[in-house]
Amino acid sequence: MRLGIVILAAGQGTRMKSATPKVLHRLAGRPLLAHVLDTAAALDPVRVAVVYGHGGEQVPAQFAQRDDVVWAEQTPQLGTGHALQQAQPHLDDCDRVLVLYGDVPLVEPDTLRALLARPEPVSLLTVRLPDPTGYGRIVRDADGMVRRIAEQKDASDAERAIDEVNTGIMALDGTRLAGWLGRLENANAQGEYYLTDVVGLAVGDGLPVEAVIASDPLEVAGINDRAQLAQLERAWQHRAADRLMRAGVTLADPARFDLRGTLRHGRDVSIDVNVIIEGDVRLGDDVSVGANTLLRDVEVANGVQILENCVIESAYLGPASRVGPFSRIRPGTHLEGHAHIGNFVEIKKSEVGLGSKVNHLTYVGDATIGRDVNVGAGTITCNYDGANKYRTVIGDRAFIGSNAALVAPVTVGEGATIGAGSTITRDAPAEALTIARARQTTLTGWKRPVRGK
Ligand code: UD1
Ligand code: CA
Repeated sequence: MRLGIVILAAGQGTRMKSATPKVLHRLAGRPLLAHVLDTAAALDPVRVAVVYGHGGEQVPAQFAQRDDVVWAEQTPQLGTGHALQQAQPHLDDCDRVLVLYGDVPLVEPDTLRALLARPEPVSLLTVRLPDPTGYGRIVRDADGMVRRIAEQKDASDAERAIDEVNTGIMALDGTRLAGWLGRLENANAQGEYYLTDVVGLAVGDGLPVEAVIASDPLEVAGINDRAQLAQLERAWQHRAADRLMRAGVTLADPARFDLRGTLRHGRDVSIDVNVIIEGDVRLGDDVSVGANTLLRDVEVANGVQILENCVIESAYLGPASRVGPFSRIRPGTHLEGHAHIGNFVEIKKSEVGLGSKVNHLTYVGDATIGRDVNVGAGTITCNYDGANKYRTVIGDRAFIGSNAALVAPVTVGEGATIGAGSTITRDAPAEALTIARARQTTLTGWKRPVRGK
């Protein structure tokens, strides 16, 4: 079988009330169309064609890196049949054509394989809905054979009572497609070229039409407004949460978990509520993630404890480290292991050696910190002079007293001690105490001023 897949994505999406084309709105952190493209690719087609139109070149521009897709512009948008006519030249060599919608993101490859397994020249994916309003109804004859599809606006009252509807997803005989598309007319309530009229044409030609009824309405649900977008987002997240729990991850509450990328994990990972995982995240064995934490493109080694309310991005957290609560770890941070990063600590583009501690109220930027270093509360690496950034180097076993300002470029030697409140502008030698602050003096006999005198 030479399978061609057409994804219809030219429609306006009026009810989104947005300047962004509907298929570029995000589900699980990715454009709707990206989900459909992935599903299409899973079916090993010889071609994937996307029909775009509303929003112009924004849609193809967003997928410029995908060389497995051909684009067909549809302007103006004269209906789903007209949309397929635009893609048809790309499908000449396909003996089977599968139609997908860019705004139906949750459909599963297995469901589509079942549809493609049907031998009929037209196979529809249908679904029964308690409220079928707005959809094309599947009209069957007395023997239960599909005769045609009646669109909402063209349907009789009797047809409107039918609860089996067209999802829009269908598999068509590629060798007959051009003929059917050429025969479509727009003499209907909307003055559009309906792709659904292909059903009536095939039946008229004496060809069998089959309907495969989808079991899960959410899987074939389209997104027309932001409420439906949120509903399908949650459905997607529930699926992701289920998969993770079945793979051995503890989620405190699967309804309060958000995955917007890929999560790879070891054994006995535990994730508390309201955690957001973005991009490419790896969690080793025995990792726990505290509530209200964002992890974006992070690699976390075994036995790491991330406490509540952390924002961690493009970083590596080495084995048995402890981070948080309220830590901000920015891109380029590398914790070697057994480190403690505490509350209200910000670390950027820095290495922190084995067993070092930065426990409270500190900014570490552009620094290399050795092993077993203790950085006291309120310490700041002054890495920026208003024009350029400079590095701070802190040797193994150094002890930085509280409220020190380390004015980079500067090096604190191994085993050095920096007195609390020091502003260090020159290198501090190893194994020595360096203090850089005004000496404390006491004036005896000094009197407080008195009011009115
Ligand atoms: C269509 C079906 C209907 C089905 C319903 C499922 C037709 C005539 N009707 O109805 O039977 O129950 O979908 O949601 O096919 N599109 C284009 N170009 C166009 C028009 C639409 O690319 O000119 C795309 C849209 O972007 C969308 C899809 O086709 O992804 C469906 O369009 P929509 O307007 O939602 O179709 P409906 O009239 O709701
Ligand atoms: Ca629709």
